[in-house]
Parts: sequence; C-alpha cells; structure tokens
Amino acid sequence: MSLTWSAKDHKNLNQPPATGQKRSRNDAGNKATVVLGAQWGDEGKGKVVDLLATEADLVCRCQGGNNAGHTVVVDGKEYDFHLLPSGIINTKSTSLIGNGVVIHLPGLFEEGDKNEKKGLKGWEKRLIVSDRAHLVFDFHQVVDGLQETERQAQEGKTIGTTKKGIGPAYSSKASRTGLRVCDLLADFKDFSTRFKNLVHQYQSMYQSLTVDVDDQLKKLKEYAERLRPMVRDGVYYMYEALHGPPKKILVEGANAALLDIDFGTYPFVTSSNCTVGGACTGLGIPPLNIGDVFGVSKAYTTRVGIGAFPTEQLNAVGELLQTRGHEVGVTTGRKRRCGWLDLVIVRYAHMINGFTAIALTKLDILDVLDEIKVGVAYKLNGKRIPHFPANMDVLQKVEVEYETFPGWKTDTSAARKWNDLPAKAQNYIRFIENHIGVPIKWVGVGKSRECMIQMF
Ligand code: GDP
Ligand code: IMO
Ligand code: MG
Repeated sequence: MSLTWSAKDHKNLNQPPATGQKRSRNDAGNKATVVLGAQWGDEGKGKVVDLLATEADLVCRCQGGNNAGHTVVVDGKEYDFHLLPSGIINTKSTSLIGNGVVIHLPGLFEEGDKNEKKGLKGWEKRLIVSDRAHLVFDFHQVVDGLQETERQAQEGKTIGTTKKGIGPAYSSKASRTGLRVCDLLADFKDFSTRFKNLVHQYQSMYQSLTVDVDDQLKKLKEYAERLRPMVRDGVYYMYEALHGPPKKILVEGANAALLDIDFGTYPFVTSSNCTVGGACTGLGIPPLNIGDVFGVSKAYTTRVGIGAFPTEQLNAVGELLQTRGHEVGVTTGRKRRCGWLDLVIVRYAHMINGFTAIALTKLDILDVLDEIKVGVAYKLNGKRIPHFPANMDVLQKVEVEYETFPGWKTDTSAARKWNDLPAKAQNYIRFIENHIGVPIKWVGVGKSRECMIQMF
C-alpha cells in the first residue's frame, strides 16, 4: 500500500535551502514559543497554552504521551487533555502531535470524543500527527503495571507511574523494536509481523503477559483508517510552518523539568526529555527557531508519585494546599503531594531551559495562610550545597533553608492587574522573580482563562 499522505502534501512545500545557500541567524524563519513545566508537573501548563493559543496558528506536543493531564477552563467548562495539545480548543489553529510523542490510539480517540461531547469542535480535522511518532500498545500499559509490581517486589518501592505505558513504549523506541505511525499506515502484513515479534519479546520477559494478538490487530487496523487523514511527514510539515508565511507556533511541553529522563530526579522520572531540547528533537525544530521559552511554576510545589521532595509539608499546611488547590492528578486521580515553593528546583529548571519569562500560577491558593515560606537553598550536614544534587539519596537528606513571608490574607481571585494585588502578595512575587532572575510575565489567581494577571 502506498503512503497516501506523502505525495499529496509535499507538492507545495518550501524546499530545503539549496546547496551552497547559507542561512544567517537573522533569516532563520518563524520562531516557536515553548511552554514548559518548571517543577514536577501540573503547574498549569494547559492554562498557559490555552491563553497563548488564542493567537496561535499551530500548537504542538513534542514529547510524552497520555501520562500528561492538562486542564483548560473556558466559559465555565473544564476540558482535560492528555495527548491532544490544549490549544486544540482554538478552532482557528491547527494542532500537531510530533515525532517525539508516544501515542496510544484508543486513548487519543477516546479523549477527542469525550471532549467533543463537552463542546470541542472539529478536532479531528484540525489535528496533524507525525508519521514518525511511536505507538503505545495496550500491552505496553500492562507491562508498565508489571514493572511496577516487580520494582515493589525487588526494591520495596515503585516509581508511581501513571501506568499509561510510557516507559515501556520509549524502551521499545530506544531498543529499535518499536512501531511507528508510518509502519501502521504502510504494509499491514509487515506491521502485523513486527507487532507479533514485539509481543513475543515482552512475553519472554513477562511470562504472565497475555495478549490477544488477533483482536489487537483488528482494532489497530480500524484505528489506522481513522488516523490516516491526519498523518503527515512531521519534518516537512514543521519546515513549512517555520519557513512559510509568518506563523505563530506554540509548543506545549508535557510533564516537567524535574521529571526529565536526563535532568530530573532519576529514577523517579518519566521517560522523555521534558526540557527545551525535547521541543527540538520531538518536532524537528532547529535551535535557531526556538523563540520565547516560558517556564510554568506554581506559587508552591506539588508532586505526584514517589521520590524525594525537599519542601514537602506532611502537616496542616500540606493538607491545606492539597484541599484548597484541588491537588488531585488529572490522569490518575491520585492526591498530589504538596509543599512550599522550592526555588532551588525552579532555578535549576531555568539553567537547563533558559526561560525568557515565568508564569506563576495558583497564587490564590495561598490567600488564607498566615505566613508563607519559600525554599532558597539546600544544606547537607549543616553546610549549604551549591547545586541541585544528582543523587537521590543526597536529595532525600538535604535540609531546606527558607525565607519566610507574611501572608496577605486577602482574596486575590478577582485581581486582574498588578495593582489589584495586595502589597504583601506583590512582595512575594517580586522576591521569586529576583531570586530566579527571570521576569514573571503572568500571575494566576484562578482556574479560568481570564484569571491570569499579565505583567508586561
Ligand atoms: P498541567 O499539567 O501543567 O497542565 O496542570 P494541571 O491541569 O494538571 O493542573 C493544574 C490545575 O490547576 C488545574 O486544575 C488548573 O485548572 C488549575 N489552575 C491553573 N492555574 C490556576 C490558578 O492560577 N489558580 C487556581 N486556583 N487554579 C489554577
Ligand atoms: P503533566 O503534563 C505530574 C510522573 C508520574 C510518575 C513519573 C513517571 O500533567 O504535568 P510515567 O507514567 O510518565 O512513566 O510516570 O512521572 N508524571 C507526572 N506527574 N504531571 C505529569 O504530567 C506527569 N507525567 C508523569 O506521576 O511519578
Ligand atoms: Mg497535569
């Protein structure tokens, strides 16, 4: 079977620069704005993307899968996005799922259909899927659970994954036995053989794994036909977007810096690069075409799953943040662990990502506190340590040095500009900005789109 999307869509593309033609830094083309999590996830990236997406032409996901859970509240309606870029709500924009994303097809269609019932219009016609993206199969999700059970039995602890098959699917990709969208849409006989081989490979590792191969293949064939009209060569599609007429391109990071496979709190991380490099490798965007990089941080810290969390508050403060902030995972329904804002990690995230501005969300959750603390440094054996430790045993042991601020004890949820905020809240925000060394561009005071104070 021919690859139906290639000939049709490549006809009018801008050609890559001819041999000998040099591009200077000034004619690099359109720039992509990137939105990234600066903590352990759930910072409110969906809300920031939704805000920016009202003006975007193209909104892209570059990594992760449906382990992500991004909430957007528009006109009182709450939408959850896991694989679809949150910007898909903007009916004037196109959305792109890039090659760096791992796609569970049943999850993708279920999510789209569910949001369509809530009012999301025409998403299927506005979604482009890269032919190089890898697939997550149902058995990857089962294996994710089996691996967690194995960790518990062998090490007495799990990672606390979302069980969406993310680790196993990226493992298949890295071990070069994974299957991609382009494989599914090409020769199905060949795809079926490779699918069976992959199942056997996992069954030789996990004897309890049962897979109804025929049933899976039947379903995948049906999904393939629903997917086919959306599939493009992502590299050429992005090149066209970058070098064609002026376009606003937005990249929505999933997960977050401290969950990054290289820079996060390994091994309690996800399996992709959730930092700025992931935007380049997961979409085929050259570094010169990266424009603004917006870091999203809550005004406190949360974490879902297992792993060190130096500013965690296992006390009344933690409970208050959890309840007032409705800190429950969008994907798994697990309660999020809560603690004070940790500026050591946000600064660390800035070192890797080079944030050009920060969105500080959920300030309103702090409205009722008498005093508010911010972690500014770590100490080990009584001595300040100059870096964020790589070793998790060390991170477990650090003692946090805090700055303490008086609470403003005022409802900020109706504030729409800087001057509407109480002076003590302004003081808190300015301290954070100075400490990270990055301007704060937005301050979030509520769930919905309009509850975002724009500072400049
Ligand atoms: P994401 O994964 O980074 O997109 O974040 P999630 O959607 O998982 O979690 C953030 C939660 O906080 C969602 O329920 C948002 O609706 C909510 N939220 C975002 N910004 C604000 C804010 O400024 N104030 C309040 N109260 N809620 C917010
Ligand atoms: P968003 O995009 C919060 C965490 C999981 C677990 C670890 C590994 O909504 O911010 P995985 O299933 O990816 O193998 O799980 O990473 N995790 C997240 N935590 N928000 C997320 O995404 C997350 N994505 C993964 O809880 O600890
Ligand atoms: Mg989330």
